[in-house]
Amino acid sequence: MKVNGKVVVVTGAGNGMGREITLELVRRGAKVAAVDMRQEFLDETKKLATAIGGTVETFVVDVTDAAKVAALPTAVEKKLGAVDAIMNNAGIIQPFVKINELDMASAQRVMNVNFYGPLQMVKAFLPGLLKRPEAHILNVSSMGAYAPVPGQSVYGASKAAVKLFTEGLRSELMGTSVGVTVVFPGAIATNIAENSGMHMDVPADMKTPKTTPAPQAAKAMVDAIESNKPRICIGSDAKMMDFLSRLNPVMAANIIYKQMASLLK
Ligand SMILES: NC(=O)c1ccc[n+]([C@@H]2O[C@H](COP(=O)([O-])OP(=O)(O)OC[C@H]3O[C@@H](n4cnc5c(N)ncnc54)[C@H](O)[C@@H]3O)[C@@H](O)[C@H]2O)c1
Repeated sequence: MKVNGKVVVVTGAGNGMGREITLELVRRGAKVAAVDMRQEFLDETKKLATAIGGTVETFVVDVTDAAKVAALPTAVEKKLGAVDAIMNNAGIIQPFVKINELDMASAQRVMNVNFYGPLQMVKAFLPGLLKRPEAHILNVSSMGAYAPVPGQSVYGASKAAVKLFTEGLRSELMGTSVGVTVVFPGAIATNIAENSGMHMDVPADMKTPKTTPAPQAAKAMVDAIESNKPRICIGSDAKMMDFLSRLNPVMAANIIYKQMASLLK
């Protein structure tokens, strides 16, 4: 589905990849409903998009708020017209601790934002999307869905849930006008740790991983919608782990463990 002239809903649009997705979409002629829980983040995204001539409407919604998500399709349609695509990008990481030290409230919040958020969004928008001549759903998972990162086990589980949910949804929607994409980003240069309220003490001798710039990730995601790709991995790290975790999952886990062990005391 070409995005030119279409109405696209982007969650987590106030920062990081969501902001860059919004800018990429308006550059290609789409109108964007930018959703985030933080108004000040959305205001900045709208300012940047307007400066390049884009049409963006902002919606302050926490994707875990079932009533607000259910009301979103009508609110967006009123401002921008019928919705053609949703991009479930909003997400948070968990506190950087082992399961033994992770409190249940944090674990549940991660599942609520990362898994139930996209599920609620799909439940709210799918009836409308099925009425469009062509439509698309893109869900952002993570490399952590197929390669275990110690200290992010529940985050990884939430993203593995997004992976299977999205793959199942794609099979269910085969033969309809709705395309579906699951995205596996590797390490992307954003402020996700800070935005998730986490502080990480990175040891001075730890090798910082190579990251993919957020605008590059955003471009890959919009390309994936336009070419109806079922799945994409973003970054050489995500591509390599996608291969290795199927070829030799134990070796893949050991490599990541060695890289991350110094972060977990
Ligand atoms: N940054 C990475 O290295 C990386 C790697 C793999 C996957 N991802 C995934 O990519 C997505 C985007 O991550 P990012 O790095 O751009 O993050 P980010 O923190 O830069 O942006 C995320 C945005 O989502 C918003 N948000 C958080 N919880 C929300 C909620 N409950 N309701 C509405 N908005 C909410 C935040 O306010 C923020 O503006 C996430 O799903 C993340 O898990 C990121």
